[in-house]
Amino acid sequence: MTPPAARRRPAADAASGLGAILGAIPFACAAFARGDGALVAGNQCFSEAFTALPGHRDRAQLAQALGVPADADGAEARAPHSGHWYALHWRPLTLEGQDLDLLTAVDISARLEALDTHKHQQEKLLFTSRLMSVGEMAATLAHELNQPLAAIVNYLNGSLRLVGQAGGPAQVERALIAARTQAEHAAAVISRVREFVRAREPRRDAQDVTVIANTVLELLRLEAERQQLRIDLTLSAALPAVYADKVMVEQVLLNLVKNAIEAMREIPPAQRELRIEGRVNLDDEVEVRVLDRGGGLDAAESEQLFSPFFTTKTDGLGIGLAICRSIIEYHEGRLFFEPRPGGGSVFAFTLPRAEGRL
Ligand SMILES: Nc1ncnc2c1ncn2[C@@H]1O[C@H](COP(=O)(O)OP(=O)(O)OP(=O)(O)O)[C@@H](O)[C@H]1O
Ligand SMILES: [Mg+2]
Repeated sequence: MTPPAARRRPAADAASGLGAILGAIPFACAAFARGDGALVAGNQCFSEAFTALPGHRDRAQLAQALGVPADADGAEARAPHSGHWYALHWRPLTLEGQDLDLLTAVDISARLEALDTHKHQQEKLLFTSRLMSVGEMAATLAHELNQPLAAIVNYLNGSLRLVGQAGGPAQVERALIAARTQAEHAAAVISRVREFVRAREPRRDAQDVTVIANTVLELLRLEAERQQLRIDLTLSAALPAVYADKVMVEQVLLNLVKNAIEAMREIPPAQRELRIEGRVNLDDEVEVRVLDRGGGLDAAESEQLFSPFFTTKTDGLGIGLAICRSIIEYHEGRLFFEPRPGGGSVFAFTLPRAEGRL
């Protein structure tokens, strides 16, 4: 029979015995001395996760490097050198007469990432459902507005005929034509909204960006005159046709140019400079760019820009860019913001060429 004294191991063995136990644990685990907080033993996962952190051999320094209080049990911390997230737990432990604190650090990065993706998907869903309720609202409005709009167009046509017969002033005739163009556009948007809500299948075919841009310029002519600004249109010669739904792309360009005009409300008229450029980019897509000299956007704003209901305007809904982006993504294109050199913003979108699509 072995005498009890022979079974008692010397204190120095505590660390190696502990090391063996920690080695069997499949996540980062380490023991620190209760008194001075010095590292006594750590397993392989602990070394892999934390040896790159200066001060990891000391409880207080390790906690500091991870940005958590040294005694916070259950804290979640991000390791600055690896970007991984850990759930940290502390448990007291007495082994071979030595008082220790055992740290477990479970890598929760994958779980957080999954949560993030989930949240993202939920946000997307929320966005879609918001868009749908906006769509339903629009459908009701469209139904109510269609009749009066048709009547407005009829009255304008009648007035135009009368002015023509009476040889009335040319300005009146021009104003009536402009009013009719606006009313017809409103009717086209509305019938498109109704179709979109009903069928959810926009009509894409070969469209000329020059025609689209000129329609938009015509719709905004009065607004631009009121703001005393000129809109320069620079489209590459022989810009190829795009594969797109005409009214939807008009809506996108209209929204971007409107935003650009609104961004320059506060600056002196002489500095208001709005350009629309069109070209074929390096990916062989047609890229349309709207450039303004407004206040531009700071980093925080540019991150939220496309979120639905983000607005900095007292009279804004914050839905314009969100809708533009979903329209462009539907068209397999991209909508993006860039700061404009010399001040202001660039909002650009791409559309695929029609060639080979029809
Ligand atoms: N050209 C621009 N220059 C500076 N800021 C801009 C520009 N375009 C958009 N923004 C910023 O992005 C925000 C969101 O734009 P968005 O078009 O989605 O909504 P909105 O213009 O505020 O309202 P609405 O729904 O009526 O269009 C704006 O409130 C503005 O802060
Ligand atoms: Mg807007």
